[in-house]
Amino acid sequence: MAEHLHPIHDRLVQRAERETANGHRGGVVWLTGLSGSGKSTIAAAVERRLFEQGVFVRVLDGDNVRSGLNGNLGFSLEDRRENTRRVAEVAKLFAEAGAIVLCSFVSPTRQLRAAVAEILGDDYFEVFVDTPLEECERRDVKGLYAKARAGEIRDFTGIDSPYETPTAPFLTLPTERLTVSEAAGTLIAALITPLSIQSLSSVPTPR
Ligand SMILES: Nc1ncnc2c1ncn2[C@@H]1O[C@H](COP(=O)(O)OP(=O)(O)OP(=O)(O)O)[C@@H](O)[C@H]1O
Ligand SMILES: [Mg+2]
Repeated sequence: MAEHLHPIHDRLVQRAERETANGHRGGVVWLTGLSGSGKSTIAAAVERRLFEQGVFVRVLDGDNVRSGLNGNLGFSLEDRRENTRRVAEVAKLFAEAGAIVLCSFVSPTRQLRAAVAEILGDDYFEVFVDTPLEECERRDVKGLYAKARAGEIRDFTGIDSPYETPTAPFLTLPTERLTVSEAAGTLIAALITPLSIQSLSSVPTPR
């Protein structure tokens, strides 16, 4: 099918033009970690702070893609793979539009994350939200760990399905040793140089 598509690049606004206008590069921050590790919380805090600095930023989270774009997908291995692939492709479109995209998905296996990295290339920034299982289970924000322990949910990551720790993430955020604000600040500080975030260049590095 792809051979019938005709590129229209000449007439399009180029990525570099968008990035110059935005005052920063586009890129995709892929937050991975156990359920309850803090991916959505940190993504929301980072989005808020960057937005207030004039950055073109957008969170993609289970909540805003599962209901629409991926409404036809379930939680089988195949559907999880397809869910991840579609999110990565949408994130890529946003990044090409000059946005900083914050994606918070468990994405438990190296294979899943490698597929995302393959789609995103240089735009991929993997962030490991490093919270031990015991702490995630203690938080049990959604009550899912209790259900998984009771056998009401099968194949739950960390309980009866593995989480493979990232081997070489762009950044690791140990949330037991950081407040939400510190974790958000650490991530933003790490992004300033690689994403050339001009409006933030004068903001001091937290801690
Ligand atoms: N330093 C921290 N960073 C992030 N979250 C923290 C931190 N300390 C405590 N928390 C709490 O941990 C919980 C994390 O829940 P959150 O929904 O963000 O997890 P998640 O990784 O998005 O999970 P899921 O994969 O189920 O969506 C929140 O209640 C948050 O307030
Ligand atoms: Mg979440």
